[in-house]
Amino acid sequence: MSVENATASQAAPARAVTMEKLVNLCKRRGLVFPTSDIYGGLGSTFDYGPLGVELKRNVKEAWWRETVQRRTDVLGLDSAILQHPRTWEASGHLQNFTDPLVDCKNCKQRFRADHIEGDRCPECGGELTEARQFNLMFKTFMGPLEDTANTVYLRPETAQGIFANFANVIDTQRVKLPFGIAQTGKSFRNEITPGNFIFRTREFEQMEMEFFVKPEPAEEQRWFDYWVGERFNWYVRYGIASDRLRLRPHAQDELSHYSRGTTDVEYLYPFGWGELEGIARRGSFDLDQHAKFSGKDLTYFDEEAKARYRPWVIEPAAGVDRAMLAFMLDAYDEDVVENETRIVLRLDPRLAPVKAAIYPLLRKGGHPEKAQAVRELIARYFTTAYDQAGSIGRRYRRQDEIGTPFGVTIDHQTMEDDTVTLRDRDTTQQERVPIGTLVATLVDRIGWYREA
Ligand code: GAP
Repeated sequence: MSVENATASQAAPARAVTMEKLVNLCKRRGLVFPTSDIYGGLGSTFDYGPLGVELKRNVKEAWWRETVQRRTDVLGLDSAILQHPRTWEASGHLQNFTDPLVDCKNCKQRFRADHIEGDRCPECGGELTEARQFNLMFKTFMGPLEDTANTVYLRPETAQGIFANFANVIDTQRVKLPFGIAQTGKSFRNEITPGNFIFRTREFEQMEMEFFVKPEPAEEQRWFDYWVGERFNWYVRYGIASDRLRLRPHAQDELSHYSRGTTDVEYLYPFGWGELEGIARRGSFDLDQHAKFSGKDLTYFDEEAKARYRPWVIEPAAGVDRAMLAFMLDAYDEDVVENETRIVLRLDPRLAPVKAAIYPLLRKGGHPEKAQAVRELIARYFTTAYDQAGSIGRRYRRQDEIGTPFGVTIDHQTMEDDTVTLRDRDTTQQERVPIGTLVATLVDRIGWYREA
């Protein structure tokens, strides 16, 4: 599938999912809970439950596997959330990472000036204050003294930890341009209008990569196009329908202060098209700024050209929570099995929180003991669930709605010939598989290294 084709077709196919249905499923099945639920919640902050944490880990691993593990030109990093405060002066975030804020003089609600049309309050029609710039960074203090000299910020993007370590990486690793440095981790933004569940929150996780290239326009263009294509196709490979994805280049007046060109990968959420990931050309803006503010040499020595320069950067920057939301929304389906409507999350098996559920058909006759032994065997490699409560049909439904791709049933025949039935979530078809080849069959079906 080419990116061009996918971008051209933007029709919205009918779908069963709504935000309300997904939020309810997430709460009911332990994927996502509102933070501090017992205290009435904390504005647009969420916790990931036992199944949500597995899905989130799988999303990050899928990104890492393809951005770092399988490549020879990208290295990993894990930098601190708290950075030297000069970082944010140099990066421009202290001065520029702001949103224009207006208050309604009548109902006192706050809005982002750039999110409303007209000059009256969208809620009550009241008069609005003049717009003022509001910095999105969370502040705290390092050490016991709460004064300006000790102010530090929770990072609003993971990217700056990468730029700050540029010299450390090139001094300790054998790297040659072009190469990338990637990391995943928490970022924090004091968003004025968070919302739409885990789409926009104040604490979230990012998956970012800074790809350093020769400072030449043709080289920059080549790698920019490459990464836009790669990132678009990553979402498709992991299960998102390509007609619910599109590319949107930023207009000049919406570019971030560090960017000289950004294209977003957008997804068609139930509330409309919205950003999933941004791919930006940052040029040498960040390395130039950090060199200036730190006084350190942040150049790269080009052996062939015998020249020193600060490389330019292409940055694919994705959100873990937003990717999770898109994967769940796109996988959500309802169909009829044995005259009953079921909810089924058709997640890519690599992303599914539980890979295989193990069911003893009966609670006697040695079935539970055998099922536990099979579970232990599979659990060496994958996350499993064990369920012996209720009819087998009900047990299948429980796993279908959390997206478990495979069900393994231990029945009478298992006790005789050491085979089990293997049920497929999507087709609901079953086949008999020897226990001896079960793990290999699952590895094959999960398809870790499938290319398409
Ligand atoms: N380093 C560049 C950068 O941070 P960004 O477009 O501001 O770029 C990258 O953020 C990605 O991080 C977004 O595409 C989105 O997926 C995620 N993201 C940003 N703000 C978010 C928020 N408040 N809540 C959830 N995810 C967010």
